[in-house]
Amino acid sequence: MSEAKRAAGYRAADMVQDAMVIGIGTGSTVYYMMERLAQRISEGLCVRGIPTSFQTEIRARELGIPLCSLADVSEIDIAIDGADQVDPHKWLIKGRGAAHVRERVIAASAKIFLVIIDSSKCVLKLDGPIPMEVTPFAVSYVTTELAKQGTILIREGVKKDGPVISDNGNFILDYSVGVISDPRALQQYLNNVAGVVGCGLMTEFSDKIVIIEGGYDNKKG
Ligand code: A5P
Repeated sequence: MSEAKRAAGYRAADMVQDAMVIGIGTGSTVYYMMERLAQRISEGLCVRGIPTSFQTEIRARELGIPLCSLADVSEIDIAIDGADQVDPHKWLIKGRGAAHVRERVIAASAKIFLVIIDSSKCVLKLDGPIPMEVTPFAVSYVTTELAKQGTILIREGVKKDGPVISDNGNFILDYSVGVISDPRALQQYLNNVAGVVGCGLMTEFSDKIVIIEGGYDNKKG
């Protein structure tokens, strides 16, 4: 799948135009996009990126991609990001890398949202675990509430004992309900549970999403 991810990432980077402000997502597919973007910058492309995570910020600096902050711009021209699942409505599950809260802010600020994926991410119905960012004080309450309708696990660190702590200082819970029959209603419910900072279901961006799937494209709208 890494060749498909590379193809999607490179195609997205090739759609970037001079003077654009780019929202830069997080994850392995985005890494390939940054690799190609850095090549284009070395050839004279002039852009600024806004990273969605510490990982992306560190990689962008290593690759020589100029960065700015959201406060420096009035609008983002293109957000480019991966996804864990994409359905035919262009509804998404994101957050495997625990960056979905910042990723949502960047997508909301962007005129166009390029979603770069390999074909394994395309599903007819969303059914994957939904990452939930939760303020630590509320974890026991949120866990009890959500366990009424599904399975909820506190995400554990790799090379760190105990819970994953997000870039915003919160816990990450993974919530599974099987096939999600009404993703919009579930997103609204989850984001209204007290203590939830944000869930990884994203159903609000379909109108501005362009899917770039390995060698294939869907046009906007
Ligand atoms: C980061 O938190 C996620 O939303 C990623 O964008 C998503 O998990 C896709 O990651 P990969 O491109 O590594 O599959």
